[in-house]
Amino acid sequence: MEKKRILIIGSLNTDIVLSLKRMPEVGETVLSDSYYFSLGGKGANQACSAGKLGGRVSIIGSVGDDDFGKTQISSLESIGVDCSNVRISEGRRTGMAVVTVDEDGNNSIIVSSSANLDCDISYIEEKKCVIENSDIVLIQLEIPFDAVERAVEIASAAGKIVLLNPAPYSEKITDGLLKKIDYLIPNESELKSLEPDVDIKQLKSIEAGARNLVSRGAKNVIVTLGKEGCLWVNKDEVLKLDVEDVQRVDTTGAGDCFCGAFCVALSEGEAVKDALVFAGKASTLAVTRKGAQDAMPFRTELK
Ligand code: RIB
Repeated sequence: MEKKRILIIGSLNTDIVLSLKRMPEVGETVLSDSYYFSLGGKGANQACSAGKLGGRVSIIGSVGDDDFGKTQISSLESIGVDCSNVRISEGRRTGMAVVTVDEDGNNSIIVSSSANLDCDISYIEEKKCVIENSDIVLIQLEIPFDAVERAVEIASAAGKIVLLNPAPYSEKITDGLLKKIDYLIPNESELKSLEPDVDIKQLKSIEAGARNLVSRGAKNVIVTLGKEGCLWVNKDEVLKLDVEDVQRVDTTGAGDCFCGAFCVALSEGEAVKDALVFAGKASTLAVTRKGAQDAMPFRTELK
């Protein structure tokens, strides 16, 4: 069977990653003993994950006309990601993210969007045919929201499999948008923002929140739960999948790895449950290593 074509629409960033013992409080200065630059951006990370795992993948996004943008594109191309629809914005800088990682591998991230803002609604309109010529379309929320809405509208009207990773959360998400989504993939904090009544410490409450998102229109909701695995809910089923317990070094991009891997398995005709197991294995391996894209596994590394 020929693999389905995966299209990622989203951000491309350079990450500056600082390792800390613990995150600072408001007004506090803490010292970091090391930092490094790494390739990131939720869109680029998801494309990287899908590319490294052997997917037939392309990306729509925007970088600046600087060395960071060139490095990102050549790196994605080296793993087989088609970057011919990445806009190079003149006079803009490539998006930058400051990522802090504590000694338990937890992260917090600040993104300066910059060139990602040029992946706007008019650029999406220009790339309508690219969306219509793909099979699986995966989008996040680090590009302008109206561009996301338009991309979802085009993909859904053309009968594509549409996945939305609502990261970072936006209060602009409407039930109208959710109705066009085949797979909504929030993490616990995004679920809490979407469904404020959820107690993220209680699986039953997480399930209730996910069910509510299904009743609001999303066909399937997959909540990523970090070391607890994930929970898949649709109108007929509920399934909790565990992942292997590992020593977590850096969780940056783990959700992106999960989303990209899930698309690859779907593109190969796997059932949803098997696709979730595959995505769980890929992201679990990724958290044992440093960085976002650097940490993502190749197909040969997965048992
Ligand atoms: O999901 C992780 C990513 O979020 C980082 O790579 C950073 O660039 C931000 O986009």
